[in-house]
Amino acid sequence: MATPLTNGIRLLSLFGTSLLPLFGHSYGPAAKLTAAPGDNPVACTACHAGTLNSGPGSVAILMRGGPVYIPGVKQRISVRVADPNQQRWGFELTARLKSSPESGQAGQLVPVDNFTQVICEDNTPTPCSSGVSFVQHTSAGTRNGTRGGATFQFDWFPPTTDVGPVTLYAAGNAANGNGTNAGDLIYTTSLELNSAIPAAPAVPAGNVISAATYTAGPVAANSWMTIYGTNLGVTTRAWDESDFINGGMPVALDGVSVLLNGSTAPRRATVGFVSPNQVNFLLPSDVNPATVQVQVRNPAGISAQVPITVQATAPQLLTVDGRAAVAFHANGTAVANATPATPGETISLYCTGCGATTPPLIPSQVPVQAAPVATLPTVTIAGAAAAVSSTTVVPASPGVYEVKVQVPASAANGDLPTIIQLGTFSSASVLVTVQK
Ligand code: HEC
Repeated sequence: MATPLTNGIRLLSLFGTSLLPLFGHSYGPAAKLTAAPGDNPVACTACHAGTLNSGPGSVAILMRGGPVYIPGVKQRISVRVADPNQQRWGFELTARLKSSPESGQAGQLVPVDNFTQVICEDNTPTPCSSGVSFVQHTSAGTRNGTRGGATFQFDWFPPTTDVGPVTLYAAGNAANGNGTNAGDLIYTTSLELNSAIPAAPAVPAGNVISAATYTAGPVAANSWMTIYGTNLGVTTRAWDESDFINGGMPVALDGVSVLLNGSTAPRRATVGFVSPNQVNFLLPSDVNPATVQVQVRNPAGISAQVPITVQATAPQLLTVDGRAAVAFHANGTAVANATPATPGETISLYCTGCGATTPPLIPSQVPVQAAPVATLPTVTIAGAAAAVSSTTVVPASPGVYEVKVQVPASAANGDLPTIIQLGTFSSASVLVTVQK
């Protein structure tokens, strides 16, 4: 049995013999095997016998913000190799200027984990003295024994200026895992990216509002907020898994960030969604009551300051459609017209900006425990007090709290107005459907 150390020595000696013009192995193939212009047109089938793209599987290049690049703004690229019958995975991808597809390197490819590596066209590791480069699987990345498919992720730093369209070319190997080059299926694909050039963002006064109520008004720390404006982002997307690093929440998505000024030193807020005319952000959990100036920044500029009022308390209930509360029965089904709450039942409501917790939240980190709030809010349903048994942050859902509340035994049938209160602040009214 090989120990990790002897494996490492074996790898080193293999790299020592890698001066062959064309090599290809499970620990990483040679350069120029993507079927891009100037590369080997038969890609990995140069050794893995068979016809390109003849199996039931595929290789796909996935871009979260669509087939665009923003000059100078890092992007995450995923390559998925899939095949229903296979169980080991490899790939190679290159980024080329459409204006010079054989030799025009477009930006820099950078691994984010040990599943990929980058090599130069002369098969040496990066940095490359010249020529084009390739990102490809490592031995660990082949994930032998994983059935159906595997996804590779890496970052791409596009050119810092608009260089016109860029084409990504990829070859994928859906392998059978037998440790030889027989019985594997090779797929190829390409994706053309157009440049997306931001313009300076603008946010009119009054357009930084509560994401729960969609209206302006006082808000509290740890509240989700929405900004409406123009030229905010050039892509449309919410955050996804790959935007988080060690549980830290993103402070920019596709080059768009939100700056806060006035409560603490100038800082960037967590950004959860970007698009050309809407950005969602989370007010930090440690923001102090103050007038806070909000600005959107993108690579083309920064919007004028828009003030918001941050108070010590200003909870708001979350809704599904601006009216009906997000509410669940204890068994996890939603409270809705067809499945109403009953008088006396304890249901879960959800709020944002519901106050400090014990222990305190760590600003900009995804909450991992259901910490209770330091001060329980009160809730009324159709004007009657509804007993609140707990209010805790929802682990893995930043800015969201769960409020367990008992529907008053006296509640009548209907869609009943429901309000959450903390200190002297009463939330907007939302509706909970109750039926005896
Ligand atoms: C010069 C010949 C050659 C080329 C070209 C080549 N390979 Fe291979 N490949 C091999 C050989 C030989 C093996 C078996 C030995 C090993 O696993 O290292 C192999 C094994 C593999 C395996 C493991 C297969 C299994 O079933 O266990 C993967 C995955 C793989 N190659 C991916 C690729 C990809 C992706 C490309 C194209 C980008 C490629 N190879 C191009 C020769 C080649």
